[in-house]
Amino acid sequence: MSKRYLLIIAVVGIASLFLATAIYAGTTVADVVNMENKAYDKHKKSIVTFTHKKHVEEYKAVCGDCHHDADNKPLSGLKMGDEVKNCIECHSTPGEAPKGKDAPKLSEKEKMAYHAEAMHENCKGCHTKANKKSGTKTAPTTCTGCHPKAEK
Ligand code: HEC
Ligand code: HEC
Ligand code: HEC
Ligand code: HEC
Repeated sequence: MSKRYLLIIAVVGIASLFLATAIYAGTTVADVVNMENKAYDKHKKSIVTFTHKKHVEEYKAVCGDCHHDADNKPLSGLKMGDEVKNCIECHSTPGEAPKGKDAPKLSEKEKMAYHAEAMHENCKGCHTKANKKSGTKTAPTTCTGCHPKAEK
């Protein structure tokens, strides 16, 4: 083998090492995410199991359907390995907005400050549309569909 080939092999080897490090340095996500956000002192409802991988691979949801930037622009160019902010960093008040007749009337923006409102609008919004389109009810829209009743 000539020196030139050896040099090419060395360069390719080093380059792929750098690439692997770059991928490793980003944010990773579990295939199935237990939605048990640490910002909550205590969850009132049972923990939602979110199939992140299935949503992308089987249900064909795209990153920008759920992840957006500080201007609420979909992050359509997002790739696995990129840095991703958690929803709670911007939708920062844990729980749902106050309800009932004494509750203040909130604008859409004020409502979206509540983490659970943003989650519900995102998850249920797409599920309602998806069910309508498929003529099925496979995408859960009821409380227990996502927050299963505790097994006794
Ligand atoms: C159906 C909605 C949805 C889709 C589609 C989606 N994600 Fe996510 N992703 C989430 C949710 C919800 C979380 C949990 C984050 C949280 O609790 O704040 C998450 C978490 C992540 C995390 C981990 C963030 C962290 O630090 O914990 C990464 C990385 C990520 N997603 C990347 C992607 C990429 C890349 C795509 C597209 C290939 C994608 N996601 C598609 C909803 C989605
Ligand atoms: C970098 C900040 C940031 C992050 C991270 C973020 N959001 Fe948002 N989101 C916004 C802003 C800004 C708006 C516009 C409304 C407002 O001003 O609060 C918004 C609006 C929304 C809305 C209202 C519907 C719409 O699109 O107008 C939903 C639902 C939502 N976000 C869900 C999510 C979910 C789910 C995540 C995590 C996967 C997430 N957001 C992460 C900043 C963020
Ligand atoms: C862009 C559309 C979209 C968004 C956003 C979305 N989903 Fe889904 N989800 C679907 C579809 C479509 C199905 C039904 C797939 C099928 O037919 O089996 C589904 C099914 C599910 C199921 C039942 C099947 C399973 O894989 O466990 C759960 C639970 C679920 N979603 C939770 C969530 C949660 C929690 C969120 C918000 C963080 C969310 N989804 C956001 C499209 C979406
Ligand atoms: C499509 C799935 C989905 C459906 C349907 C749904 N939720 Fe949620 N809910 C979530 C997710 C995801 C979170 C965020 C939990 C976290 O990240 O810690 C959440 C958070 C919450 C929280 C704040 C956390 C806690 O446990 O105190 C409450 C309260 C809540 N949901 C109540 C409800 C009620 C009541 C209903 C029915 C009217 C409902 N949810 C329907 C997905 C869903």
